[in-house]
Amino acid sequence: MSETKTILLHLTDLHFGDNHSRSHTIFNFSADDISHLVIEKVKHDFTCKNLVIVLGGDITDKGAAHKYQYALDFVRKLRSGFKGYKIEFMICPGNHDIDIKNPNNSFDAFNKFSTDVTGNSKYIYTDSKTSVIHTFNNWSFLSANSMYHKIKDYGILDMSTIEANLKKAKHPVVVLTHHHLVPIYKKDSSVCRNSYDLFKLSLNYGVKLILHGHVHTSFKLDIANAKGKIKIIGSGALLPKIDTNYNNQFSIIGLNDHRVSKVITYRIIFDDANSYRPTAIKS
Ligand SMILES: [Fe+2]
Ligand SMILES: [Fe+2]
Repeated sequence: MSETKTILLHLTDLHFGDNHSRSHTIFNFSADDISHLVIEKVKHDFTCKNLVIVLGGDITDKGAAHKYQYALDFVRKLRSGFKGYKIEFMICPGNHDIDIKNPNNSFDAFNKFSTDVTGNSKYIYTDSKTSVIHTFNNWSFLSANSMYHKIKDYGILDMSTIEANLKKAKHPVVVLTHHHLVPIYKKDSSVCRNSYDLFKLSLNYGVKLILHGHVHTSFKLDIANAKGKIKIIGSGALLPKIDTNYNNQFSIIGLNDHRVSKVITYRIIFDDANSYRPTAIKS
């Protein structure tokens, strides 16, 4: 296995501004602790300094503009922790990033956030611009809005723009979207409705990895045909809400010249009696 040339840090379902915990400061935990933890694990696991920070949607809890400030602070802390790294971003919205009070411009607050994060307009999503592709370190990165239809109950992907973007890809491809692609629960109605179309296109166009969030649980599956193999990786929610009991997670993924070289998913635990700080264990 050749060496890792690019690291992906998959952070999804941050839910900043959740009504139960505006600053996510509960018990002995703060969002700063999580940013330190994430930075520490990336540095521990990889020596490579080409980093793609992947923000996979549900950045806030209901898309209200002021809630993105918490997320922006969090990203700034990540940036300063990764000083000396070459940093790129992949960003897509989730169902919680739609501003329900602003139906005509539902992604305005999200788009401002993505512009503030990147310093450019690459990740502005509109009714017609539903996916984005860019190149970094000999890989192509395609981020797709599975909420472009603005119906919060389920995900769907705009396959025509995805195909148009995949045709432009000059390198192996990583795809990011918010909604999960395979039903996980028996009554799983929010799953992406046209995943099979994405799988067929992805196998055709050299996609090596698909990342998603939304279900707040980890997911790993390889799909393959005679043409190639794709890893599908879902990561759980990064930050906790007081009223839930799911495992918080993040994933760190290595890419070599042609394929995924390493996948590490961390589960965050909050009851380390030695440190009284959140810690992360490989799951
Ligand atoms: Fe979520
Ligand atoms: Fe979601």
